[in-house]
Amino acid sequence: MPEKALLEKRTGIIFDYDNIYGEGKVTSADIKAISADIKKAAQALEKMRATGEIKGHLSKDGLPEKVLFSQLPYIEKGNINSPETIEELAAFGESKRYNTQAVISLGIGGSYLGNKVLFDIGCGEFWNQSASIRKGWPKIYFSGNNLDSNSVQALLQQILSEADAASGKYRVLLLVISKSGSTLETMACFMYFWDAFQACPDKIEVEVVAVTDPAEGEAQTLLHRMASEHGWRMFRVPDGVGGRFSVFSDVGLVTAAVAGIDIKEFLKGARDMDKACQSPNPFDNMALLNAALKFIAAEKYGRDIEVFMPYADSMKSLAEWYIQLLAESLGKEKDRSGNVVHYGRTPIVAVGTTDMHAQTQQHQEGKLDKIVQFVKVENWEKDPLIPDSFPEEKTLSDMSGAGFGQAMNAALYSNARALSLNGRMNATFILPKLSIYHAGALMYMLCLSVAYEGELADVDAFDQPGVEAYKKILKTQLK
Ligand code: PA5
Repeated sequence: MPEKALLEKRTGIIFDYDNIYGEGKVTSADIKAISADIKKAAQALEKMRATGEIKGHLSKDGLPEKVLFSQLPYIEKGNINSPETIEELAAFGESKRYNTQAVISLGIGGSYLGNKVLFDIGCGEFWNQSASIRKGWPKIYFSGNNLDSNSVQALLQQILSEADAASGKYRVLLLVISKSGSTLETMACFMYFWDAFQACPDKIEVEVVAVTDPAEGEAQTLLHRMASEHGWRMFRVPDGVGGRFSVFSDVGLVTAAVAGIDIKEFLKGARDMDKACQSPNPFDNMALLNAALKFIAAEKYGRDIEVFMPYADSMKSLAEWYIQLLAESLGKEKDRSGNVVHYGRTPIVAVGTTDMHAQTQQHQEGKLDKIVQFVKVENWEKDPLIPDSFPEEKTLSDMSGAGFGQAMNAALYSNARALSLNGRMNATFILPKLSIYHAGALMYMLCLSVAYEGELADVDAFDQPGVEAYKKILKTQLK
């Protein structure tokens, strides 16, 4: 059993769990005490991978439902992602290059959060401002993830002014992503842009692509029916894949494809991670170890808040994606036998170093109820040095000489060490570099980890009954 960090050999991602495991933290005796449950959790996921069956999981309609996210990394004939579907996505994306000027990706929750991660890591902050970064691919905007009147108006103005500046017609793709096909935020924003663009046919040529549940007949979604009637192209939100796991399906991949992101590389990261997370021995399976440590930290030591803190601006959206994954998967009132358990960890988004100047005081000295989960980039592709611009100013001169990335990692180390010295549990996922491959690997490992933790806590990690309560009330408010 290794005493130190666990090296994930296939993907290069390292899980440094030194500051959560050992004397005064989660101990080897703690792990041993739940070893039978860990074994059962490993068996449950083995079965899920082979058959899609997971004990006690029911659909929203109360019917047994398969859980198929673990199929997504494998591009194989007969799978949800097959060579044909991936080819189709790539060809669709390619057809928008040098052809469509702007894409508005409309969706919320699982139909948005992963897409934003792909954009932030694959495209970067200045994609829309810089033709030389885009290299012929469309600008990508996101909407439908709120009902903010300022945001929709501002985006409309932006698109209209881009259209004004264009020489010919401005081609805009409305990518409407909704599994249920009628989500308020997504559809309200879609209709807003649809109407606005219909009003200026001389300036804007609009295309709609729908990503929704492919079911036909009675189960057909509104969006599916509209797409058929209007002749809009369709992609699928596959059965058995919940929103928070759907970034590896057409849902995430279609946005990636229109931005020229290498979707095969993203899935390869997920696939390599899946292969590396099959052992029933937690010390040889990063996802299982992460689940076991966090489960024990919460249940035995009261650490039931998880601060997810990547040290990179472009990974803030990764933290936001993880918030949904953790909150919806594990925040459950009842276990699978119907006992009230009120399980789950409250997730918090933080970004290093920014939030060291805002949240760290609380992490360091506040209630002993938190785990801080860092994400570190080991090597930054380009790492400019902090220059010695004013050598006569000793304070500034002392800061100079290091790369920004080097300084960033020194800050992360210092934060982790200070927390640890004060009995504050923390752990670090270390990415060799910031890439779409490593994003796929890390995101997939986190999906597996919540699935394992669902088994350990005996809660259904794949439903979200708690979101229905407000929806019922909201329906009565908008009539
Ligand atoms: O995880 C979930 O199921 C939710 O967050 C959904 O993704 C979100 O509500 C959007 O739903 P839909 O894709 O049906 O529009």
